[in-house]
Amino acid sequence: MSFLEKHKKLERNLSLLFVGSLVAVLIGGIVEIAPLFYLKNTIEKVEGMRPYTPLELAGRNIYVREGCYLCHSQMIRPFRDEVERYGHYSLAAESMYDHPFQWGSKRTGPDLARVGGRYSDEWHVQHLKNPQGVVPQSIMPSYAFLASAPVEIKDIAKHLKVNKIVGVPYSDEMIENAMADMAVQANPDGDTQGLEERYAKISIRNFDGDLKLLSEMDALIAYLQMLGTLVDLKAYSQDENLR
Ligand code: HEC
Repeated sequence: MSFLEKHKKLERNLSLLFVGSLVAVLIGGIVEIAPLFYLKNTIEKVEGMRPYTPLELAGRNIYVREGCYLCHSQMIRPFRDEVERYGHYSLAAESMYDHPFQWGSKRTGPDLARVGGRYSDEWHVQHLKNPQGVVPQSIMPSYAFLASAPVEIKDIAKHLKVNKIVGVPYSDEMIENAMADMAVQANPDGDTQGLEERYAKISIRNFDGDLKLLSEMDALIAYLQMLGTLVDLKAYSQDENLR
């Protein structure tokens, strides 16, 4: 019996075909999935990761609400062209506190995983208000309304609590102080000592340049400016060429 003859038998017998496909899918699945459980860079803990501050978390919620992920990914792949453009490739642990993660699958605009610190706050304000004013050929829509929209502050403790339920290590102290922490992060004249103790590597300043209103613009820029800034990546490079 030739190989094709044998295959014909398999194709014409429903149960045999089912078992055969199952075996093929199982082998493929094991080969793809099993390594993730022992490959170092998918399970390693990295130093520097901390939960989002309340203001950053509010900014992240706005990012999700506005669908920024439909045009922007947050996942730099380990290819030379990506690393040269965006910086060190993303580590799995860098999205460990993201629920849901924002890797995205479409890049109409650039990847934002390491956009933190790349531009000034004023640049972000101008760009979010009128992208074409900064990058004439841009097709990004305007988000000017964020500057005059007060950020929802009452519910922020609940957002921290929900994140805690799904595994983000927010302490009781962080949750208790969430509302105050949120306001004071955008107020450089406030009492920020507790906030700084609770969250490492935090930027405290007025992000949108308008001290009178704690706006959604403040929150979104606080979030954008911290993206990719927490981990000291030199320690985690496995491949010299991709640093
Ligand atoms: C319709 C697609 C689209 C949407 C939606 C969109 N953007 Fe963009 N974005 C772009 C494009 C295209 C660029 C590149 C040109 C430019 O800088 O404006 C860009 C650029 C950017 C940049 C500069 C990145 C860099 O490295 O230069 C930032 C930051 C940014 N967008 C943030 C956001 C945020 C935050 C949102 C949601 C509030 C958003 N974008 C929504 C298309 C989009």
